[in-house]
Amino acid sequence: MKILFVCLGNICRSPLAEGILRHINSNIMVDSAGTSNYHLGSPPDRRMIETAQSYGIDISNLTARQFTTEDFNRFDKIFIMDNENYRNVVALAENESHIEKVHYTLSKQNNVPDPYFGGKDGFIQVYEMLHEACQTINDEIQER
Ligand code: 4NP
Repeated sequence: MKILFVCLGNICRSPLAEGILRHINSNIMVDSAGTSNYHLGSPPDRRMIETAQSYGIDISNLTARQFTTEDFNRFDKIFIMDNENYRNVVALAENESHIEKVHYTLSKQNNVPDPYFGGKDGFIQVYEMLHEACQTINDEIQER
């Protein structure tokens, strides 16, 4: 099972989700990407690295990259954070089977909010949301 997490910048939400899921189950192939090219080649946001570190998760060596159409073929499931990510990813799909791979990390009604322009609380809230979501994703993979 190959899982890809996607957010906008690939420096806050999706690298954290990647780190958490890998921490929960090191056998899962997991990666992350952003729909934008804003932070290509950058490590995760320092505030997110520190938040992850406080929960024993090291995401400091990850590097931002942009989501591409090729990712639909390389991954089994693509988990997006919010409605904007959903639109941006689906816009690059070439067929129905690509679209079927796109899932909300939480749900259409319950987006994982972008913490970038907010304070530290937002980063902790995102950690809690993504930790719970990754437990659920791992449980679902185990049941297959
Ligand atoms: P992310 O957060 O999508 O969770 O990585 C963001 C990071 C940077 C920007 C937006 C969101 N930005 O506009 O630069």
